[in-house]
Amino acid sequence: MRVGILGAGHVGKMLGKGLALAGYQVRISSREPHNPKHVPWKQEVGESGDITSYDEAAQFGEMMILALPWSCLKDVLETIDPVKLKNKTVIDVSNALYVDKGPRLLLEDTSAGAIVQELLPESHVVKTLNTVSEKVMIHPSFKEGSPIMFMSGNDNPSKDQVRTLLIDLGWSMIVDLGDIGQSRLQESIMLACVISEIQLQAPHSAFALLRQ
Ligand SMILES: NC(=O)c1ccc[n+]([C@@H]2O[C@H](COP(=O)([O-])OP(=O)(O)OC[C@H]3O[C@@H](n4cnc5c(N)ncnc54)[C@H](OP(=O)(O)O)[C@@H]3O)[C@@H](O)[C@H]2O)c1
Repeated sequence: MRVGILGAGHVGKMLGKGLALAGYQVRISSREPHNPKHVPWKQEVGESGDITSYDEAAQFGEMMILALPWSCLKDVLETIDPVKLKNKTVIDVSNALYVDKGPRLLLEDTSAGAIVQELLPESHVVKTLNTVSEKVMIHPSFKEGSPIMFMSGNDNPSKDQVRTLLIDLGWSMIVDLGDIGQSRLQESIMLACVISEIQLQAPHSAFALLRQ
C-alpha cells in the first residue's frame, strides 16, 4: 500500500517511519523537501520512504494522511488538485486548539474532522490518532494496559482500511465512534487528555477503558 502524508513534522515523520517499518511505501511532504533537516528521517526509512512536495505526495498515495497544523491545513489542501484525492481514504489527525490561556477547542458546534470532510467531499475522511502524542502513535506500550484508539468516518470500507493500518502500527484496542460528526468527541477527548497530562504530570499518556 502506498501512503502519502501531507506534512513532515513531528507526526508526519513518526507515522511515516512507523508505516515504512510495517511494509508500506511512504511519501512524507514539506514546503522544502530538499531541506537537509529531512536527511536523518530518509536514512532511517531507506527505500520504503521519501520526501516530496505536497502535490507529489497526494499523487503518490493510495491512502493519505493529513499531518498539518490546523492553521495551514485548508490553504495546503487548496493547492492540491482534488482529483488527486478523489475516492481516497484520507486520515485526519489534526487538532484545532487555542493555547493562549490554557488549551481550549477552537471550533464550536463542529470539528476539524467534519470541516476536512466538507473541504474534501469526494474523499473518505477518517479521523484517528489525534488523541495521543506523536511519541505514542506507533507501537504504544503502557504498563497499565492497552490504550484505546478511536476513529470516526462516513465510509465503512475506508474505516476497515484504517483499522488495518492502526493494527499495523501496533494498536489493538480500536473503537469506531460512528460518522465523521463524531470526530467532535475525539477532539474533546484529546483536550481532556492534554489537561489530564498536565494536571497529573503524565506526558505521553492515552485513554483506556478500565474493566472490573
Ligand atoms: N505533535 C503531536 O504530538 C500531535 C498529536 C496529535 C495530533 N497532532 C496534530 O497533527 C498535526 C501536525 O502536528 P505536528 O506536531 O506534526 O506539526 P509540526 O511538527 O509543526 O509539522 C508541521 C508540518 O506542517 C508544515 N507547515 C507548517 N506551516 C505551514 C504552512 N504555513 N504552509 C504549509 N505547510 C506548513 C511544515 O512544513 P515544512 O516542512 O515546510 O516546514 C511541517 O511539515 C496538527 O494538526 C496537530 O494538532 C499532533
